[in-house]
Amino acid sequence: MDLAGRTAVVTAGGGVGIGRAVCLALAERGAKVIVTDRSATRAAQVATELQKRGAPSASAELDVTSRAHVDGVMQQLAKGHGPIEILVNNAGISIPCPVLSMTDETWDAVMNVCLRGMFWCTRAVLPTMVARGFGRIVNLASYLAFAGGEDQAHYAAAKAGVVAFTKSLAREVGRHGITVNAVAPGIILNEHLDKNREQLSKAVLDELERGTSLGRQGAPEDVARVIAFLASEQASFVTGATVPVTGGLYMV
Ligand SMILES: NC(=O)c1ccc[n+]([C@@H]2O[C@H](COP(=O)([O-])OP(=O)(O)OC[C@H]3O[C@@H](n4cnc5c(N)ncnc54)[C@H](O)[C@@H]3O)[C@@H](O)[C@H]2O)c1
Repeated sequence: MDLAGRTAVVTAGGGVGIGRAVCLALAERGAKVIVTDRSATRAAQVATELQKRGAPSASAELDVTSRAHVDGVMQQLAKGHGPIEILVNNAGISIPCPVLSMTDETWDAVMNVCLRGMFWCTRAVLPTMVARGFGRIVNLASYLAFAGGEDQAHYAAAKAGVVAFTKSLAREVGRHGITVNAVAPGIILNEHLDKNREQLSKAVLDELERGTSLGRQGAPEDVARVIAFLASEQASFVTGATVPVTGGLYMV
């Protein structure tokens, strides 16, 4: 329970994938978790799940692609629940598309959620973290930031941006007691992969079927445990790192 008394905000925490697992992992370590998601209903479902397990939790609708919304909601959350000490920038979307036929809209949609949304959420919580001399920020990158991926140029570019942002911000705010880290998941089973397998490119499916060095596919909990560690006191001397959680699918 080393996160007892800490308030954490998780973006896109209402999905059945990594976001929900992160909420559960932080709550298991004692944090008060505010589950946010573009869908208020999904966020509330996960918060209710946490409350049923006896964990203090709340939920809020938060679309990370709206700056006014991000600023307003983060302010409200801090007023209602106390200073935000842990931020997990989990929101990210993938829209597989070859560069040859990629529209500006597709490029922007991925960039806006994966990169700009992360920047906005981070900027909204940083002043309080700096003033209080404590903060833990964990960003979701991807192994594609390092490996690249067919039909994933926009997503891989955004996630490489997440890695560089993480390192740069870590340098900026370390003296204020704030650590900034990222995790780079491999292929983790989630709603999208489970339900839309036929829409995935053959390359992605091949990677999924070929498996990892550990001989099994990744689960959201595999990633969530590492994020909870990075948010904890045990990781207090870790900053600017991007931890691959790929089961050995890809090694940085
Ligand atoms: N699943 C993987 O294989 C994998 C691999 C590498 C990286 N990642 C990254 O991990 C993170 C979590 O991925 P996941 O697939 O487990 O999804 P998830 O289940 O954690 O998240 C899905 C949720 O995202 C929400 N969402 C979508 N757009 C949003 C927005 N604009 N604002 C707020 N919420 C929004 C949806 O409502 C949904 O509830 C993402 O950043 C993703 O890029 C995932």
